[in-house]
Formats: sequence, C-alpha cells, structure tokens
Amino acid sequence: MPRSARNKVTVIGAGNVGATTAQRIAEAGLADVVLIDIVEGLPQGKGLDLAEAAPVVGHDAHVLGTNDYADTAGSDIVVVTSGLARQPGMSRDDLLAKNAGIVRSVVSQAAAHSPDSILIVVTNPLDAMCHVALAASGFPRERVLGMAGVLDSARFRTFIAGELGVSVEDTQAFVLGGHGDTMVPLPRYSTVAGVPITELFSPERVAALVDRTANGGAEVVALLKTGSAFYAPAASTFEMVESILLDRKRVLPCAVLLDGEFGTHGVFVGVPVVLGAGGMDRVFEIALTAEEQAAFGRSAAAVRELVEKLPA
Ligand SMILES: NC(=O)c1ccc[n+]([C@@H]2O[C@H](COP(=O)([O-])OP(=O)(O)OC[C@H]3O[C@@H](n4cnc5c(N)ncnc54)[C@H](O)[C@@H]3O)[C@@H](O)[C@H]2O)c1
Repeated sequence: MPRSARNKVTVIGAGNVGATTAQRIAEAGLADVVLIDIVEGLPQGKGLDLAEAAPVVGHDAHVLGTNDYADTAGSDIVVVTSGLARQPGMSRDDLLAKNAGIVRSVVSQAAAHSPDSILIVVTNPLDAMCHVALAASGFPRERVLGMAGVLDSARFRTFIAGELGVSVEDTQAFVLGGHGDTMVPLPRYSTVAGVPITELFSPERVAALVDRTANGGAEVVALLKTGSAFYAPAASTFEMVESILLDRKRVLPCAVLLDGEFGTHGVFVGVPVVLGAGGMDRVFEIALTAEEQAAFGRSAAAVRELVEKLPA
C-alpha cells in the first residue's frame, strides 16, 4: 500500500460486516484500510473492488486486501469481524468455542504487528470474544472495546422513531449490559427531543419496543436465512472508529472490561464510554435504580458464565 499520512485501520474478516465496515471507512476518507481474511482471494478481490469505486465516490483512501499480517503493521485501529456468523436457530453461545479459537489466533497476529493499536471486537458472542481479545493481545483495557451497544441502541432508536413517526436523529436510546438477550435498555434515559419515552408510550408499548430491540439480531437472521445483519453493525462500528480517530470523545455504549464501575469487576459488559484517541477515555457512569442494577448484574453474570465456558 502506498505511504500516506492518513490513519490506518485493519479490518479482519472480509465477510459482510468486515467488507461493509471497510467500505464506510474508506468512502468517508477517514483512513487507509487493510482488509484481511483467511480465504485467499476474497480480501484481495473486495479490496480491489473498493479501490476501484474510489474515483467514482471521490476519495483517496487506499484499500488493500491481503492474507498477510505483515501488511497490517502499524495500524491505529484493528477491527475484528472474523468468525462464523449466526445461522437461523443457532444461538450466539453456540458460536463460542469456534469463534474463540479464531479470535485468539487473529488478535495475537494483529497485535504483534500493531502493538499500539486499539482493538474493536465485533465477532460474537461479543462480550466473551472481548475477553479472548484482551488476553490474546495483552493490551490494557482502554484499548480493547466491543461493538454491540451502538447497534442495540440504533435498533431501539429505529423502532421508537418509527412508532412515533419522528426523525431518528431526534431519538436517543440508552442501552446497557450484554449484547442480545441480556441487554438492559434504560427507557427513562431513552428520549425523543429530550422527552423520556416513558412519557410518550404506555408501559406495555415500552416493553414491546424493548423486546423487539433485544431480539433485533434474530429478527434479521430469520428474514435473511443465510446470514446475519451487517449494514447496521458496520455503521455502528464506523461510528466507534470515527470517534477514536477524530478524538471526538463521543459517549457511546461499548463493551469494556469493568474495574469497579457499576459495581462490577473483571468482566466485559456494555456501558456508556467516552471514546477518544486512546480508546476508552473513561466509563460514563450513572446511578442506576435497584431494578436496573439487578438487571445489569444478571447481564454481567451471563457474560461471566460464558467466559467460564471458554476453552483454555
Ligand atoms: N457485535 C455485533 O453486534 C455483531 C453484529 C453483526 C455480526 N456480528 C458478528 O460478526 C461476525 C462476522 O459476521 P459476518 O456477517 O461478517 O460473517 P461472514 O461470514 O460474512 O464473514 C466472516 C469472515 O471471517 C472470515 N474468517 C473466518 N476465520 C478467519 C480467520 N481465522 N482469519 C481471518 N478471517 C477469518 C471468513 O472467511 C469470512 O469472510 C460474526 O461472528 C457475527 O456474529 C456481531
């Protein structure tokens, strides 16, 4: 890849989420992108195709597809999407052992070539894969982040805005906890133009929106039948990459290793995080009600249970 003063982002896994994330980053002109996969030809083909779109789209970011980790050297961010996607009827947990092996292998290779990079893990089961990535990289917790909360929150915002017939831009959602079934949405902090949704919907409607959000991934899988969601996951990953590279200090829900925040230690769970140039700047901690804290505790316990099942 030609030298440039742009930032460099490696995306591991040239499948649906990886290639779409690479496209968003390159087409925004945000960074040069290295797309790497275990399948020969796949990243090279998609990389070339993306590069050939550049004159039409109008950007100068370089895109390189490769099977060689030497090409990833000196990356500022490494996005990990390699792994198996969920098939219909398959739970995220079924993927645990297989994806743990893949994530361990790719992260140790990528971290060796980019020792100062920030890792964004996307592979499911998300929170458990973050534990694998932390161990395989040896990075501090500030530089190992999981993408799930931005996506869960985007789904919640989509459903809230759709139900009210208002812009998604004026709709905010606050989501904590693990990715998927144990997600903990906080309706009192989920708002439309600053108004909590608890004042806009009946408790039954709020519960239905929360339920649809928690099952948002499964809803797409059931429709697609041969894969899982990737447009919204890629857009969500892009938002995290952008906040880091532009040091925006966005407050975004990310999976991070908690060190006492929200009364929780030693486990990756989704919490609001201030994201800047160093990765996690800090956890944006808020006081939870007893009920919310209990749901958060159940979510953390579910992640812990999965981590204990990880092959040594
Ligand atoms: N965190 C989230 O919110 C979220 C959202 C969507 C998808 N996901 C997860 O992201 C992952 C990718 O999803 P997808 O739809 O892009 O799947 P995909 O099957 O389209 O792509 C996965 C890619 O990983 C590659 N791969 C497998 N083993 C590899 C290895 N050892 N080294 C390098 N590449 C390897 C495959 O060849 C494939 O190209 C899945 O685990 C999925 O469950 C997570």
